[in-house]
Amino acid sequence: MKKFPKDFLFGVSTSSYQIEGGNFNSDWYYFEKQGKIKTNSQTCCDHRNRFKEDLSLLKKLNLNAYRFSLEWARVEPEENKFDEKEIQYYKSIVKILRDNKIEPFLTLHHFTNPVWFYKKGGFEKKENIKYFLNYLNKIVNAFKKEVKFWIVFNEPNAFCFAGWTLGVNPPQKKDPILHLKVLRNILTCYQESYKIIHQNIKKAQVGIAQDIIFFEPFRKRSNLDWLATFLLDFISNEIIIKNLYEGKTLFPLGLGEKKEKVKADFIGINYYTRLLVRFDPNKFCFAKKIVNPKVKIKTQMGWEVYPEGLTQVLLRFKKYKKPIYILENGIATLNEKERENFILSHLEKILQAITQKINVRGYFYWSLLDNLEWAKGFTPKFGIVKVDFKTQKREIKESGYFYARIAQRKAI
Ligand code: FCB
Repeated sequence: MKKFPKDFLFGVSTSSYQIEGGNFNSDWYYFEKQGKIKTNSQTCCDHRNRFKEDLSLLKKLNLNAYRFSLEWARVEPEENKFDEKEIQYYKSIVKILRDNKIEPFLTLHHFTNPVWFYKKGGFEKKENIKYFLNYLNKIVNAFKKEVKFWIVFNEPNAFCFAGWTLGVNPPQKKDPILHLKVLRNILTCYQESYKIIHQNIKKAQVGIAQDIIFFEPFRKRSNLDWLATFLLDFISNEIIIKNLYEGKTLFPLGLGEKKEKVKADFIGINYYTRLLVRFDPNKFCFAKKIVNPKVKIKTQMGWEVYPEGLTQVLLRFKKYKKPIYILENGIATLNEKERENFILSHLEKILQAITQKINVRGYFYWSLLDNLEWAKGFTPKFGIVKVDFKTQKREIKESGYFYARIAQRKAI
């Protein structure tokens, strides 16, 4: 048996919109109502009403950390009108976690926005950053005694890509230049948020959850595939890395106007898969993304299972010498053995990295519950707990017990 460090965190991640239900003031719901998104997120896992039962599962699973998000539209349904009852609801989540010695990792923005903010142009406009900071100030004040780990944004790259280049998530635009502008505004907003959190909470640990897909050229001997891989990785990953962990204020296309350096106290990584990149002049960054045709297991998302990519990602971050948290890693499958192997193989890579002096401090499986997988609806099953969406009954899956044993022993 190989042991993890004593204080290693074993957790799970969730996000408010994907589980709570009743988020009628969020932009995703607004798009659904207009028929622009074909999901039905009215109830989701009904977590808003069942959060106590759901949180009790964490203990049963022997977990000592939990990453969750606040729904901005729930807390601030109208501009500058805060709903104290909903803030209390999130406070009771944190209390339950603290009472059970489970470390809360609080995400402030996980893809969705209040409708009122969307209607003002959301993060497309730099002058709108102040609205997010107003919300942040409120939350920092409410949680400054209880929360140490702050994840300001979830996956800025995926958020921008899905909303402004692919056009599947709100606001469903296809405008890569705007995508880059939004990314810049989010990094600026992050920077301001970092300062506010630290002004209020000295010992806070502040960062983001960055989605990192491991990209490799489809044809190893093609210069064009290498070029497309480089470009895609640069825009998707490297801009954020340079800004957050190297203190650079670099931005392409003349969008750079930041004077101060962005900072982060830890490196938060969401890692799922590898994609191969083939040069295609008609695609964003000239990059056509291809799932390795040789993959043996096709997950419900069609993704490749590639734990070796996690090793590469961790090696890439080693030089920054900051604590690293894997804030999401998971598989959508109906096969419990596959999920167990997925968890085990990725934990093995993490343990190897730790022995090579890479400072990984925690692992969060995505996700606790089967949930709304955004535009893909309820079909992909990421949970280690099954949710029957008709009865809302919860049931810990085989893989859940498997993960619980690892978390208990802190060893694989
Ligand atoms: C990530 C998202 C998360 C979930 C997983 C599968 O990109 O952060 O909300 O949908 O993918």
